[in-house]
Amino acid sequence: MPDWTLPEQFHAFAESAGRDGGSTYAAICHGVADDPLVLALMGEAPRAQRRPNLLMAAVHFLLLGGTDHPLSAHYDTVYPPQEDGRRPDGTNVAVVFADFCRCHHDALLPLMTTRSTQTNEVGRCAGLLPALCHIAAGAERDQPLSLLDLGTSAGLNLLFDEFSYLYRQRSDGSVLGAGPSTSDVAIEATVRNDLSKLPTLVVPAVAERVGLDLSPLDPTSEDDARWLEACLWPDNLPRFNRLRAALAVARATSHPPRLERGDLVDDLARVAGTIDPTGPLVVLHTWVAAYLTPERQRALVDEVQTLAGSRLVHHLYAESPHEVPGLEAPPSSESAQRSDFVTALVHSGPNGAVPVRLADMHPHGRWIRWWP
Ligand SMILES: C[S@@+](CC[C@H](N)C(=O)[O-])C[C@H]1O[C@@H](n2cnc3c(N)ncnc32)[C@H](O)[C@@H]1O
Repeated sequence: MPDWTLPEQFHAFAESAGRDGGSTYAAICHGVADDPLVLALMGEAPRAQRRPNLLMAAVHFLLLGGTDHPLSAHYDTVYPPQEDGRRPDGTNVAVVFADFCRCHHDALLPLMTTRSTQTNEVGRCAGLLPALCHIAAGAERDQPLSLLDLGTSAGLNLLFDEFSYLYRQRSDGSVLGAGPSTSDVAIEATVRNDLSKLPTLVVPAVAERVGLDLSPLDPTSEDDARWLEACLWPDNLPRFNRLRAALAVARATSHPPRLERGDLVDDLARVAGTIDPTGPLVVLHTWVAAYLTPERQRALVDEVQTLAGSRLVHHLYAESPHEVPGLEAPPSSESAQRSDFVTALVHSGPNGAVPVRLADMHPHGRWIRWWP
């Protein structure tokens, strides 16, 4: 939306938040779209980051850090909702938000000028788990997989084997579990077709876990963890709490992923070169390629194929087909549905085989349809 004015961006963000059940941000963004102080604050952000979600995250970050202001009463993540579901006073949340920006302008400014919005959605593991089981069940069955996650954020999805999974068949409610059932990170997904279509869910052994990101976040850093939390919406507590639980897993794990800083195209070969070449390598990425131009998306595919010339490589990605014209995503009947934003889970490999659409899934893994 490069040509949109800031007020137009706020209204558009409010509309999309509202459609997705984010009533707090919808009310705030419609309400402050013409507020001169809020717009001036937005103007301080670097052009590429000048988006309403950056200001929303900056404010949320301060509230999560304990900044005292009446706005906190409107954020479920700071103040759990009252039992009757109503906010403590009948005030207009946008007015309170604008007041927060006035009172805490000096604390917001450095966040607006230096931060970028970033998420790490472990719900996507609802697709990664069966895909990795599918890959592990192939020719290299007995060899542990090495994982290289491009655009890894805090590397949380590289800990997919420390989460518990429950797949529920939509038609009759029957369920299938996987992973350590005692995990505090519980991933639940509705299966839109038949549970029996999923691969056998034997969690594969992992040799190495490496993440690459332009701006990797350290889950053991209180500041980085709070920024990740702040980038989520304040009225989606299940998603927020799951992120918190995943961050706790990342802090406690005995095999933390190695996170590297760099560009996923330019630095792919360098980072892959640090991973033991004797076993299969899965180069994976989820909701990242949309950040690249179609030319860079094609360059990414070329880089993976070049890598496959020297070792056993699988390419696995969960991306929105509409946003990644440079990546091949064989069509499916699910793509015809316009009401749901469909993510295609695609596997190519080993070594440059024709890409196969393994599944369609919700962007955060709420549902999946596995294609046999
Ligand atoms: C939407 S987040 C997705 C994070 C994670 N893959 C997930 O599914 O939760 C996109 C991530 O890609 C990273 N990123 C964007 N462009 C990149 C690039 N050219 N090279 C490396 N990382 C990039 C961002 O820093 C961010 O952490």
